[in-house]
Amino acid sequence: MQYGRRLRMLRAMKLSHSPARTRMSRRSALRALSTALPWAIAPSAAARFGFSKARAAAPDGAVVRIDPSRPIGRIQPAVHSHFAEHIGGVIYDGIWVGPESKIPNVDGIRKDTIDHVRRLGKVAVRWPGGCFADRYHWRDGIGPSERRPRRFGRWRDDTETNRFGTREFLRFCKLAGVEPYFAANVGTGTPEEFQQWVEYVNAPAGSTTLADERVANGDREPAAVRYWGVGNESWGCGGKFTPEDYCREYRRFTEWVPGYGVPLYFIAAGPNGNDTAWTRRFFAKWADYSRAPIQGWAPHYYCGTTGHALNFTHDQWYEMLHKANRMEALINDQWAALGEVDKEHKIKLVIDEWGAWHPEGTEINRRHLFEQMGCLRDALVAALTLDTFHRHAEKVDMANIAQLVNNLHSLFLADEDKFVATPTFHVFELYRPHQGAEALHLDVETPAVAFRAGGKEESIFRLAGSASRSGKDLFLTLVHSHVTEPLEVSIRVAGASVSAARRTAIHHAALNAHNTFERPAEVAPVAGDVPAQGTEARIVLEPASISRIDLKLA
Ligand code: AHR
Repeated sequence: MQYGRRLRMLRAMKLSHSPARTRMSRRSALRALSTALPWAIAPSAAARFGFSKARAAAPDGAVVRIDPSRPIGRIQPAVHSHFAEHIGGVIYDGIWVGPESKIPNVDGIRKDTIDHVRRLGKVAVRWPGGCFADRYHWRDGIGPSERRPRRFGRWRDDTETNRFGTREFLRFCKLAGVEPYFAANVGTGTPEEFQQWVEYVNAPAGSTTLADERVANGDREPAAVRYWGVGNESWGCGGKFTPEDYCREYRRFTEWVPGYGVPLYFIAAGPNGNDTAWTRRFFAKWADYSRAPIQGWAPHYYCGTTGHALNFTHDQWYEMLHKANRMEALINDQWAALGEVDKEHKIKLVIDEWGAWHPEGTEINRRHLFEQMGCLRDALVAALTLDTFHRHAEKVDMANIAQLVNNLHSLFLADEDKFVATPTFHVFELYRPHQGAEALHLDVETPAVAFRAGGKEESIFRLAGSASRSGKDLFLTLVHSHVTEPLEVSIRVAGASVSAARRTAIHHAALNAHNTFERPAEVAPVAGDVPAQGTEARIVLEPASISRIDLKLA
């Protein structure tokens, strides 16, 4: 059968707009693919990704050009960071089960969570909020647990036991190999309270009374915490400040904070989404007199939802990716606004909340406020967003997906003794080799995909990605958005030969495929070799797929 006829057959099979109806077995989907495109994955060898060099390029294929001589900047490992708030089931269930629990734990911290977070690299975790942070008084969470005060939580009239406090969070960070990022209370706290928290965790034993209190509570060594958020969403739940009023508060909080030998990294609360007026007003105030120390500027961007977490049309699939893709404009616009006052661009972007936010209805436990089931679509949202951060490596110092477990766009779901990693976890693990590598300029020639949203015709990239280099290793990650058709891709490396190439990919025939306690590996990465010759490697990407291609330079 000729290529054209096979492709038409595949298009004729184009799966309808309901993801429920797109569900076909992985095996039959692969069979359909390989019948249509003889060089696509053979169903019997799903782990091999081949391309026959003799074949002509597909008419609507893509070309990816990587230029190792055009670096962008080092990809900070912290752009793959996370967020854990006292809300619903994030802390209590997701991270903390208690030392007396039958659930496997280390000092009360869920072992599954520790073991999986360890796999994410040298990232940071932001705590204790979110909106919760601007109601949190850190002294409530230190000392003997039975003496800690019980309060109503920020989100619901649930009792917050304060069983998980500063010591437990730092212990979690140590066990999981991640860096702590504390979000301090500006909304209902004081500069003194904030500065004493810095002192409590960072001052050397014996140097101050607060340091000695920490030692008495069991921690001799200071924690050397670098990252300090000064307020959260100060335009909203963090105090409903005007940018000017928040700037005034920010100055008071950050004036003369001793470092105790630690180079403190202060993060100021940025705008709601890409609100450049908030940014400009804050920095106009900031520049009108003495400039308070700011290392990171933190806009929050949730791309929201289209349809429902697990039930959406093809148009809604593309619209969701399109909304996630607005992160690129946010980074560019916020960076430009910062540059108007910070000419040397010393202040970097810290996107310390981002992700998908679906309507309720897929919680595994009703107590877990905002819990949502993450599917393949959320994995693509995560992947294309990480790629965006990499492409702007010189601008973005940190980014924290919201939230780590049992919440919005989570990497894990945990309930009693059950635990599962979502497709989004696999994206973070897949993308890990980019951490610390040098981001490279990437040129992607790609067809677009048309879709309808809000009664209008829109279009989105069919292929996007990012590339980085560490010595002779090149890492290329690609998101292929098309819901039904495969894409042939030629990868070209400027001025260097490729001696070996390997691909690891995440895809599934069902767009709403997700992992459950019963089927934890429904969506999981598969790896295989990619034929490469000279400066080129060629692959066929499955519909709705995420890939990492590791290229070894000769
Ligand atoms: O992530 C949930 C909430 O969303 C956070 O507490 C808040 O900062 C944001 O509005």
